[in-house]
Amino acid sequence: MILKAVLFDLDGVLTDTAEYHYLAWKKLADEERLPFSRQANEKLRGVSRHESLRLILAGRDVDEATMQLMMDRKNGYYQQLLNQVSPQDLLPGVVRILDELDAAGIPYGLASASRNAATVVAQLGIAQRLAVVADGYTVNRPKPAPDLFRYGAAMLNVPPDRCLVVEDAAAGIEAAVSAGMPALALGPVERFDTLLDQHRRVHRRDSLADVSLVDLQEMMLADETWSVIQSEFDPAQQHHMETVFTLGSGYFASRGSFEEGYPGERPLTLAHGIFDDMPVAVTELANLPNWLDFALTVDGQTFRLDNGTLLYFKRTLNLYQGVLQRQVRWQSPTGVVLDLSFERFTSYAQEQVGALRVLVTAVNQPCDLHFTAGINGHVANDDLLHWRHGDQGQTDETIWLCSQTRHSGIQLGTAARLAVSGVATVAVQQCPGQPCFGVERRLAPGQTVQFDKLVAYAADRDAVDQADDVVGRATALLVDATYDDLKLAHLAAWARLWDDCDVIIEGDDEAQLAARFNLFQLLVAAPQHDERVSIGAKTLSGLGYRGHVFWDTEIFILPFFSYIRPRIARNMLMYRYHTLAGARRKAAGNGYRGAQFAWESAVSGDEVTPRWVPDFEGKELVRIWTGDIEIHISSDIAYAIMQYWQVTGDDAFLRDYGAEIILDSAHFWGDRAEPEEVDGQRCYAFRDVIGPDEYHDHVDNNTFTNRMAQWHLETAVSLLRWLQTNYSVKAQQLRADLQITDDTLAHWQDVIDHVLIYHDADTGLMHQFEDFFQRKTVDLEFIRSARKSLQVILGIEGANASQVIKQADVIMLLCLLRDQYDQKTWQTNWDTYMPLTDHRYGSSLGPSFHAWAACEIGRFDEAYEHFMLAARADLRNPRGNAEDGIHAASAGGVWQALAFGFAGLRLGENDFSTTPRLPSHWRRLSFKFYFRGQQHTVDIRA
Ligand code: BGC
Repeated sequence: MILKAVLFDLDGVLTDTAEYHYLAWKKLADEERLPFSRQANEKLRGVSRHESLRLILAGRDVDEATMQLMMDRKNGYYQQLLNQVSPQDLLPGVVRILDELDAAGIPYGLASASRNAATVVAQLGIAQRLAVVADGYTVNRPKPAPDLFRYGAAMLNVPPDRCLVVEDAAAGIEAAVSAGMPALALGPVERFDTLLDQHRRVHRRDSLADVSLVDLQEMMLADETWSVIQSEFDPAQQHHMETVFTLGSGYFASRGSFEEGYPGERPLTLAHGIFDDMPVAVTELANLPNWLDFALTVDGQTFRLDNGTLLYFKRTLNLYQGVLQRQVRWQSPTGVVLDLSFERFTSYAQEQVGALRVLVTAVNQPCDLHFTAGINGHVANDDLLHWRHGDQGQTDETIWLCSQTRHSGIQLGTAARLAVSGVATVAVQQCPGQPCFGVERRLAPGQTVQFDKLVAYAADRDAVDQADDVVGRATALLVDATYDDLKLAHLAAWARLWDDCDVIIEGDDEAQLAARFNLFQLLVAAPQHDERVSIGAKTLSGLGYRGHVFWDTEIFILPFFSYIRPRIARNMLMYRYHTLAGARRKAAGNGYRGAQFAWESAVSGDEVTPRWVPDFEGKELVRIWTGDIEIHISSDIAYAIMQYWQVTGDDAFLRDYGAEIILDSAHFWGDRAEPEEVDGQRCYAFRDVIGPDEYHDHVDNNTFTNRMAQWHLETAVSLLRWLQTNYSVKAQQLRADLQITDDTLAHWQDVIDHVLIYHDADTGLMHQFEDFFQRKTVDLEFIRSARKSLQVILGIEGANASQVIKQADVIMLLCLLRDQYDQKTWQTNWDTYMPLTDHRYGSSLGPSFHAWAACEIGRFDEAYEHFMLAARADLRNPRGNAEDGIHAASAGGVWQALAFGFAGLRLGENDFSTTPRLPSHWRRLSFKFYFRGQQHTVDIRA
C-alpha cells in the first residue's frame, strides 16, 4: 500500500476551533473597538497569532509589548472557550476516517501550528489515538516551511513521500508541497488559488464528510500521465536514467545525475553554443562547471547511495512543472536514518539560473551534518578537459568562478548562492576551481534543515554587447533571487507553455505520458532567445554526436515548433542563416558555387562531421562519409523554411533570410548536378551520395536526394518569382549578390526537367537508388527477428551490399511531399520497403515517419506499433543507447505522427483540414497549433 501515514491539521480539519478563534479575536477586537467581521476572519486562516493580530490592527500603531498583551488576552479567551470542546465537536467524517485508518493499521498524527493543540485533542477525546502530536512548539519555522510536516513524518517513521497531509489552509498545503508530501486540501477552490493547478499531488474536497480511506489511497498516486517516476534505484540503469531525467531551460540543460554523485556516473551540464575543440570530432559542447555540486556527511559518514543502506527511493520528473524531485530515506553505516528530499529546476523564466532545494530531516537520532555546496569546475567531457579556470571569489553572499574554454576561448562566469534555514551566514571555502559554501548543523530527531542553492551562468557569447564581465552578469542574476520566487515564475512559465503545447491522448496512459515526455525534452532544449544556435541530435542531454546539429532538426524537430512555438522555430532557422558563411566555405571547398550545408554543424556552419570514429567494438577506426557525401541536408533546410513560412505566413523572414538560404543553396544543387546521357537522353545525375538510409554509402541517384534537389530548385524558381512580384528590390538585390543570372535560372530549369528519378509510373515503385534492387536479397524473417542492428550482424560492407534499410528513405520522401504521390505509389513502396527495414535496431529516426506513413495507407495497428517504438525511444530504451542522450529527432517525429499521421492535419492555402484515424483504443486526440498567427484546436473524439 502506498499510503503509510496521515498527518492532520487541526483547525478546520478535525474540528472547527476556527470558530472559537474567531469568537476570541472578536471579543478582543470589540473591546479594542477594532472593526472585525467573519469576512475579515477568512484572512486569518493558517496565519500565525502575531500576524493575525497585525491584520486585525490594520495599520494601527501598537508597540510589540502591547501586542503581546493583546495576544495573551485573546489566548485566554480562546482557552476558556476550549473548555467547551467535546467529542461532539469532531467534524463530520472524522470519526469514520480515523476508524478506517485504525482498521487498516495506518498510523496518523496531528501537525498543527496551534499552541493549544494538545488541549484540544484531549478535549476531543482522540489524544490516545494519535501517533504523534506536532504543535506550535515543535519547530521554529512555521508553515509554509516544510519543517512541521517533515517532523511528523519522521516521528511516524514514514518517508515523507508516503505520508498524506490533510489541511484546510493554503499555507499548510504549501508546506506539504515543500515537504515533498501529497496533500488533501479541504475547503473551497478559491482558497487554494494556483496550488491546485500547479501541484498534481494536491487534491481538494469540501470537507472530510464524504472522503473514505480508498479516496485517500487514490490521492497518493501521482498523475501518471504527467510524471515520469522511478521507484527503485538500479545502478545498472544509471546512465539511461540520467538522460531521462534531463532538465533544461533552453539556455542550458543538465542530465539527471545525483547531486551527491555516484561511482561511474555521467553528470553533464551543456549550454547552447559553448563549444570547444576536441580531437577526432573537431568540436563539441563543453561540460560546464557543475552547478549541482553537493556533498553531505553525517557523523563523519558520506551520504551516497553506494554507502550505507537505501531504505526508500523515488524520483519524479514532473513534466507539467519542469521540476525533478528525489525522495530518499537513507541509513548511514553508523545507523543514522535521514529523510532527504532533493528538488531542482532549470528556470524557464530566468533561463540562465538553476535552483536546487535540499531538505534533510533526522529521523531516529541526533546527528551532526557537514554540508558543502558550490561550483565545481573540475569537470570533463569523458576524460577531456575543456576549461581553464581564472579568478574565483566572493561578492556579498555570492561565490563565483570565472572560466575559459581552452581552445575556443569562450568566457564563462558561474555564480552561486546558498541559503540555509536557521543559519544567518554560511562559511565560504575557496578551493582552486571549486569555490563552495560549507555548513555544520546538529539535528535533533524530527528536525529539518533546508538548503536553497541558486546558480547562474553567463557567457561572453550571450550577446555581442555583453561581452565583458561574465562574473558580474552571473552574480547580478542572483541578487534578491529566492528559490520560492524563482519557482513560482518557473511554474507559471511552464503552465503557459503547456497551455499551447500539450497533446491530449485519452484511452492510453502510456502513449499520453510518452507524448508529453518527448515534447518536454524538445522544449527544454529549444533556444528561447538565441538565434545563433539550434537543437543538436541529442539535445543538450548527452555527449552523443557532440552537440552537433543534423537534418534531424529541420525535418524531425522543427515542425513541432513551426506549428506551436513559431518564435523558437524562427530562432532555429536563423541559426542556418547565421551559418551560411560556413556552408559557402563548404561549397567552395568542394568546387561549387553557393551554399552547401554541413551534414554536422556547430558554431560556424563549417563541416564538423568526424571523418573517423571507432567501430562497434571500439577496436578499429571506421571512415565516416556522411560529412563528405550526405548532401540532402541542404534541401532539408529549404523544406523546413518553406514549411515554416506556409504555417506562419512570416513573409518578412522569407524575404530577409529564408530566400537567401534557399537561393544560394540552389546554386550548389545546380553545380552539383552531373550532366549525363542515358539511352541517348540528356539527364542530370547525383552520383556518389548517401541518402537517408545510411546502411548504403557511395550510391548513385538516391531518389530522396534527387527528388528533394529537384523540389529545391523548383522552389527556388518560384520563390524568386514571388520575390519579384512582392519585393522586387529585394529580388534584384539577391540576384545581384548571389549572381543568379538568366543563364543560372535556365540551368536550374534544365536540371528540374532532366534530373534522374527512378519512379516506375506503372507500378509506382521508386528505386531507393540506382542499383538497389541489384544488391543481395536478405531473408525477411532474418530481418524481422534480428536482435541487433543489421549493420552489426552483416558488417558495414555486408549491409551495404544487401537490400536492408536503416531508416525511412523512399517512405520519408512520400511523407514530405505527400500531396504529390498517388495511393498506388504509397502502397507499392510501403509493401516493398517496410519488410526490408531494420525497425528496431536501425535508426531511431524511422519509426515516427513509419507511423505517419502507415496512417496514410490505412494500416492503423501498424501505425500504433511504430508510434510506440518512437514514443518509447528514451523512456524504455529499446535500442539500448539512450545513455548517449535524448533521441531528439524521434521526439519531434512523435509530434508529427500524432498531428500529420493520426489526426491527418493538412494545411491548404487559407485553411486546414484533418482526417482522423486514431488507433482503435484511443478515445481522444487533441492539440493546438497556430496557423498564420491564429491559434486553432484539433479535438478528435472516437
Ligand atoms: C541517422 C541519421 C541521423 C543521425 C543523427 C544517424 O544514425 O542515420 O539520419 O541524422 O543518426 O541522429
